[in-house]
Amino acid sequence: MSINWFPGHMAKARRQIEESLKKVDVVIEILDARIPLASKNPMLDHVIGDKPRVVILNKKDMASQSETDKWLNHLKRQGVYPAAVNGKEPNILKKIEAPVVEATREIFERMEKKGINPRAIRAMIVGIPNVGKSTIINNIAKRKVAKTGNTPGVTKAQQWIKAGTKMELLDTPGVLWPKFEDPEIGLKLSLTGAIKDNVVNLDEVAIFALKFMQEHHLAELNKFYNINIDSTTEIVDIFDAIGNSRGFKMSGNEIDYERVTEKVIYDTRDAKIGQLTFDLAEEI
Ligand code: G4P
Repeated sequence: MSINWFPGHMAKARRQIEESLKKVDVVIEILDARIPLASKNPMLDHVIGDKPRVVILNKKDMASQSETDKWLNHLKRQGVYPAAVNGKEPNILKKIEAPVVEATREIFERMEKKGINPRAIRAMIVGIPNVGKSTIINNIAKRKVAKTGNTPGVTKAQQWIKAGTKMELLDTPGVLWPKFEDPEIGLKLSLTGAIKDNVVNLDEVAIFALKFMQEHHLAELNKFYNINIDSTTEIVDIFDAIGNSRGFKMSGNEIDYERVTEKVIYDTRDAKIGQLTFDLAEEI
């Protein structure tokens, strides 16, 4: 689901997160494992401040496994506690609980020294739309929690969900806006379905996807579309090759570029061509 963000929405979303932050010990930031940079909210570091943070790379089933491993190492080096998950998998709580316990260990040790009775770790989930926040909350809660959190400005009474024996989770995620400024980030957000198709130029999205795969995943691209391009093939010739291979033709045997564009975007978005990561860890 996507939201059109306006300055009023953004201010309200930020205020709501700041209010919720007061109630929790730790923030669980959900990123899309395919785009760990592009799916970050530009303000979050500032909003969270010193609060312990866990970063979850979700949708790992759609991302390149080797890239996800590199991202996990990079995040660890940065001093955050990461994990990679498939939000739809049954064993997700254990995978999230481990870094949450690590991230809050110091706070709870300090509380214990002061003689304060141990209690559950309080956590909240935050992230931009479509990264899988509701999927993860519902999975942990083992029920469908209302999705009002995705509409900035619509508030509901927040409740605590018991997440195993060690953790309590706010049932409403903090929803923040994606980065808009960099056009390439917009293309990556569109390619993964985080922003609506009608706010970006779909031709540019398909060209970006094809060039990326030509450079980094040529064998998968050739195999999936049953084509035979190489690293020097011009982009228009890649469109032609896919159109010909799939029989996307208009009257007069012209290639139907619109159909090729849509097909490439949906095949990439649904990870049909392969498990692809578009933000490469070595590029940072
Ligand atoms: P949000 O609250 O952050 O906005 O995201 P939400 O949970 O609604 O998830 C967005 C889409 O991503 C949903 O698909 C959801 O099923 C899918 N999803 C979430 N986590 C994962 C994951 O780890 N792996 C995969 N493959 N998909 C994931 P949808 O098509 O919008 O809805 P539906 O097909 O579930 O009905």
